[in-house]
Amino acid sequence: MEKQIKAVLFDLDGVIVFTDRYHYLGWKKLADEHGWAFDEEVNNGCRGVPRMESLEVILRHNGVELPEAEKEELATRKNAYYVELLKDINEEDVYPGAVEFLKKIRATGVKTGLCSSSKNAPLVLESLGLSDYFDAVVTGADIKNAKPDPEIFLLGAEWVGVAPENCVVFEDAPSGVAGALAAGMACVGVGSPELLTEAPVTITDYSTIDIDALLNNQLTGSPV
Ligand code: BG6
Ligand code: MG
Repeated sequence: MEKQIKAVLFDLDGVIVFTDRYHYLGWKKLADEHGWAFDEEVNNGCRGVPRMESLEVILRHNGVELPEAEKEELATRKNAYYVELLKDINEEDVYPGAVEFLKKIRATGVKTGLCSSSKNAPLVLESLGLSDYFDAVVTGADIKNAKPDPEIFLLGAEWVGVAPENCVVFEDAPSGVAGALAAGMACVGVGSPELLTEAPVTITDYSTIDIDALLNNQLTGSPV
């Protein structure tokens, strides 16, 4: 019988690669330079959120208001720190089991797409030799409306040539889960069900996924 799922769309940061650590260090350096408070909890609010919006999260947390031009300069500076930190990225930063999972999915003939808010996504994929695992790569540079808007996922579906109702999204951020559901797609949360309350199902280990159930859109529970 034909499977319902014909494409798997992945977020990047926190789903395929633990770049969260590098984003955190980049923002932390910027915040320290200005004496702004920034910790893991504030960083959680930046998860899945575009660069400028992440900066707004930090400024709001510190009660700081700045002119637009200065904010642009700060976001550009954080990105320079992030890109510098990415020079250290290596296979230990890849989510355990993610590559094996990608290989298994692709072997079934199902399409794979990357839908990341990060404009650095192509650089991260290239640095780790992961570019060839995706039929399409959509980034923050290709869209107008960030997650939780469904735009990035709808474009991903279009680029892999699969209807939204035949796609499943893997996401680690609440905004991404909301975007996937708004796109009319199935969604698997990567992380804790406590954080991803809207996700119909969550995983923390790719090796626990029953691929047949996933492709029949019948993945249930929260396998750990
Ligand atoms: C998301 C990350 O994937 O990309 C966010 O979860 C990040 O933390 C956002 O701010 C934008 O990334 P970049 O690389 O374009 O600054
Ligand atoms: Mg993410």
